[in-house]
Amino acid sequence: MAKEILKTVYSHNQFANNGHQLIDTLVDHLQKSTSAKNPKTINWNVPKKELEFWKDFLKNGNDGDFIPEVLKHSIHTHNPRYMGHQVAAPAPITALTAMVSSILNNGMAVFEMGMAPSAIEQVVIESICKKIGYDRNPGGFLTSGGTLANLTALLSARKAIVKQDVWNEGHSATLGIMVCEEAHYCADRAAKIMGLGEKGIIKIPASENFSMDTTLLDRYYTEAASKGIEIFAIIGSAPSTATGAYDNLDVLSKFAQQKQIWFHVDGAHGGAAIYSEKYKHLLQGIVHADSIVIDGHKMMLMPTITTALLFKDKKHAQDTFNQRADYLLDDVEEEDWINSGKKTFECTKTMMCLHWFALLKHYGDTLFDAFVTRQYDLAKTFEKMLIEDPKFQLATSPQSNILCFRCIEKGKTNGQLDAWNAAIRQRLLEDGEFYIVQTKLRGIHYLRTTLMNPFTTKDHLRQLVKKIKAVAASIN
Ligand SMILES: Cc1ncc(COP(=O)(O)O)c(C=O)c1O
Repeated sequence: MAKEILKTVYSHNQFANNGHQLIDTLVDHLQKSTSAKNPKTINWNVPKKELEFWKDFLKNGNDGDFIPEVLKHSIHTHNPRYMGHQVAAPAPITALTAMVSSILNNGMAVFEMGMAPSAIEQVVIESICKKIGYDRNPGGFLTSGGTLANLTALLSARKAIVKQDVWNEGHSATLGIMVCEEAHYCADRAAKIMGLGEKGIIKIPASENFSMDTTLLDRYYTEAASKGIEIFAIIGSAPSTATGAYDNLDVLSKFAQQKQIWFHVDGAHGGAAIYSEKYKHLLQGIVHADSIVIDGHKMMLMPTITTALLFKDKKHAQDTFNQRADYLLDDVEEEDWINSGKKTFECTKTMMCLHWFALLKHYGDTLFDAFVTRQYDLAKTFEKMLIEDPKFQLATSPQSNILCFRCIEKGKTNGQLDAWNAAIRQRLLEDGEFYIVQTKLRGIHYLRTTLMNPFTTKDHLRQLVKKIKAVAASIN
């Protein structure tokens, strides 16, 4: 019995048949997603019903319906009306590289367990470092997501700056980091994981446009120091998540240098602007960062989860975790790019480098320039459209492809406007033609779009505006 089942599972013919059929299904899915005739971006279902559906499907569903049902029950990032969270519509070639990674399953913890991906990852890292402008001894690695990469960078920062050997001895001093109040919540989470506690997260208020108010840096640093907090790092958001506002990296780099602390840039979303001739000025000063995070699965057209963590000095990438796993790692001084498991949180990781390499090899850096520039330009177009319409109010002028706005109406109180906008967004979700999200900024409820899809046009944005107005009127 066991022999039979294993034979069936590994049948090459079955794999070929299923694989060819799957490619056809996915091509059909991509065609439908981009077609004007198929307006649904999401077929919304409430969690309870969704769970019941899949419980029932496990018992009663047909094998052949599995993938079609998954497609039906999932959000479609390839639909140009997808304008929600910061997740890419992956370039189809990266679905193929993902498949190669899954079949080979080379875990990469040690060189033998991924010779090609280890070397390929190194090539990718060198190429990104060059684009950043790092010129001395740069390095880094790919890892599973911006959240994990930011935590890893802060661990490197602590190791490099704090005198005490915290990794081995724990910390007796009160340690802290500085970050804008608008930063992604993973900075907060990383600090908590590291035991810094609430008082160790020095949150710098944002200025009018939601980027860090750098005029407050000295005051907050001095106040923290007077309470005995030893600050070892400052994080710049490039940009922050909710509004897409870039912190002034140039000012932060000078501050970090003056205080002799680590300068980390969370460029998970918009670090990719290093490739944009038009928008790279937003990242001025990034070259002085000790570490930088860039997500491939946000603004670089790759599937989840694919993140680069780059270091100005690669020695720090090597030093972060000097914990031993004797059965895995040789004691000899080897080339620093091999044996990924020494540097990363993960022991085993996917061959995510294949996506980066395939895009670089087939299309070159110009692909990323074309994409980032187009999407950031499109947000400016959308801004103009909303400014000209008295029914809308923007939270701030967009610096990236993220744009927050709300419906307004004379006579409604702020509380009523909040409830109205929340109801509009819920109605849009249930309708499913467009997918946009929402956020609270300084206590005010906003609708939020991130223009992630390379085929969203001005016309789609016009249709969205029309739809929102119709929905808003129907709720009034
Ligand atoms: C600025 C920023 N940092 C970090 C993250 C977390 O990245 P990931 O989802 O890859 O863990 C996000 C996610 O949206 C982000 O916008």
